[in-house]
Amino acid sequence: MLAIRDLRAAYDGIEALRGVSLEVQAGAMVALVGANGAGKSTLLNCLSGIVPAAAGSVVFEGEDITRVSAHKIARRGLLHVPEGRQILVDLSVEENLRLGALAARQRARRETMDTVLALFPILKDKLRQQAGALSGGQQQMLAIGRALMGEPRMLLLDEPSLGLAPLVTDQVFAALRTLNAGGLTILLVEQNARRAFLSTSWAYLLDQGTIAKDGPSAALAQDAEVIARYLGHLAAGEG
Ligand SMILES: Nc1ncnc2c1ncn2[C@@H]1O[C@H](COP(=O)(O)OP(=O)(O)OP(=O)(O)O)[C@@H](O)[C@H]1O
Ligand SMILES: [Mg+2]
Repeated sequence: MLAIRDLRAAYDGIEALRGVSLEVQAGAMVALVGANGAGKSTLLNCLSGIVPAAAGSVVFEGEDITRVSAHKIARRGLLHVPEGRQILVDLSVEENLRLGALAARQRARRETMDTVLALFPILKDKLRQQAGALSGGQQQMLAIGRALMGEPRMLLLDEPSLGLAPLVTDQVFAALRTLNAGGLTILLVEQNARRAFLSTSWAYLLDQGTIAKDGPSAALAQDAEVIARYLGHLAAGEG
């Protein structure tokens, strides 16, 4: 569904992606794991057209989208839930959800709203409240819900567990698994490698702008080098 070839991106001449190649099959949930500054967000921003690619190609559903504008990529159904959620805190929960449809050039359909609210029932109770009044976990659910309002064919998620308590993270990941089980293709960026491996079938490890390793998530979770580099340092209570 998504094929990335030798993708490069730089900020002011400093390369953040140094030739990344990666594939996501339709219906899969794939993890992209890496340390701070590895280039994970840059990769997602390149895919959604926010950061320009310096070289390489991105093909989504058979079409080259490497130099397609962000709004056209969104309209094609490749939707991005950015790092830090970026919801509009002064607007209501409902307004944020409706804007999600607009951002993807879709009509805010009643059925889609119902599906989102069934997935995150807590949002239903807070539809008229200001988004800024939500807890961190609820804001993450809103950010995912907002993307879902655009009826994505594929979802790019940037660190949905960031700053969330383990129990809330469980809820968010359960929702992602439900979405994936329903057929939605997902590329999940996570610093929490343990949790990413548990929820995905395949994982890529990004290290300083290049893919250091990839394989079945279950195999990577058992790999001694991966354990030492990505799983060993996790704080107690994480994962
Ligand atoms: N807007 C920017 N301007 C200049 N440099 C940037 C910018 N955004 C990211 N970088 C640099 O590019 C590199 C990759 O950053 P990126 O944010 O993609 O990493 P990341 O893997 O998402 O990290 P994190 O886990 O902290 O979110 C880093 O060296 C970072 O400092
Ligand atoms: Mg990031």
